[in-house]
Amino acid sequence: MLVTGCNGQVGWELVRCLQPLGEVIAADRRQMDLSDLDAIKTTLRNIAPDVIVNAAAYTAVDKAEDNELEANIINGHAPEVLATEAKQIGALLIHYSTDYVFDGTKSSPYTEDDTPNPINAYGRSKLMGEETIQSVEMDYIILRTSWVYAARGTNFLRTILNLAQEREELRVVIDQIGAPTWSRLIAETTAHVIRQSQTERTNDLFQSNLYHLTAAGETSWFGFTQAIVEQARRLPDLSLTLKKIRPIPTQDYPTPAQRPMNSRLATVKLEKHFGLQMPSWDTALQLCLAENI
Ligand SMILES: NC(=O)c1ccc[n+]([C@@H]2O[C@H](COP(=O)([O-])OP(=O)(O)OC[C@H]3O[C@@H](n4cnc5c(N)ncnc54)[C@H](OP(=O)(O)O)[C@@H]3O)[C@@H](O)[C@H]2O)c1
Repeated sequence: MLVTGCNGQVGWELVRCLQPLGEVIAADRRQMDLSDLDAIKTTLRNIAPDVIVNAAAYTAVDKAEDNELEANIINGHAPEVLATEAKQIGALLIHYSTDYVFDGTKSSPYTEDDTPNPINAYGRSKLMGEETIQSVEMDYIILRTSWVYAARGTNFLRTILNLAQEREELRVVIDQIGAPTWSRLIAETTAHVIRQSQTERTNDLFQSNLYHLTAAGETSWFGFTQAIVEQARRLPDLSLTLKKIRPIPTQDYPTPAQRPMNSRLATVKLEKHFGLQMPSWDTALQLCLAENI
């Protein structure tokens, strides 16, 4: 199994969670630069993996507004090359996408059948990746996830933990809702998806498909922050200076890229097909924080 973006939030966990399934080859940007479309082909032909798990992506949502071309190459065109090469070598392609393919105007969780309508450059580039993969007739699984955090790297959880040790007050957006999803949960679920998909492929039962993969439940960025701080107060090694978390509307926190107000993704299709039950976002947060971060 080849894992791209092995130093990212999801890639890092994948390299660990996929170990029981077979040999894992971890590729970082130096070993496989997704902006070099020719290099992708050469590397894939040399390695010839059974499974390609593409955890690499251009994920800087705000920067993508000014760098749409680069985002499109990495998130839109590179997945097509991965799909075409996977077809050549008979590999299964696992690819990740995002809640940001939707405009967020729906009043209930989005299903896989809802029509995407991205409202920022990153979302457009990720939708392009979904569509380019789907245009190649080959074995793929696309997993759309949301609000990813990890015990390492730069992400919302780590930012809040740092700020809670420096500041007395934080202002956090309350009117965007979604499900924070631990990168470990994504990687562990991916392992189940790969195992079952490979069995289905052996038995000629496999169908390429797109699924939503997030933790269960929903909250706002404000609610997520409250939960992080509440749970962090119980950790012995952290000394928090934070006294107040103030809820603010999105309009009081302008960003270059617009975000969907509703990021909720229904996970019924994934749970049903793979026999899984996603844990709630706050249970996963508790498990993540219990690690030494
Ligand atoms: N983060 C979220 O909230 C979120 C939400 C929904 C969906 N997703 C999707 O989930 C997947 C995993 O995201 P993540 O949160 O793990 O992202 P991440 O932590 O930002 O990791 C992305 C990885 O991609 C690598 N990368 C960037 N450009 C590359 C290039 N040109 N060639 C090779 N590697 C490159 C980065 O390498 P460097 O370390 O060298 O920069 C990094 O290791 C992505 O498909 C993302 O779109 C993420």
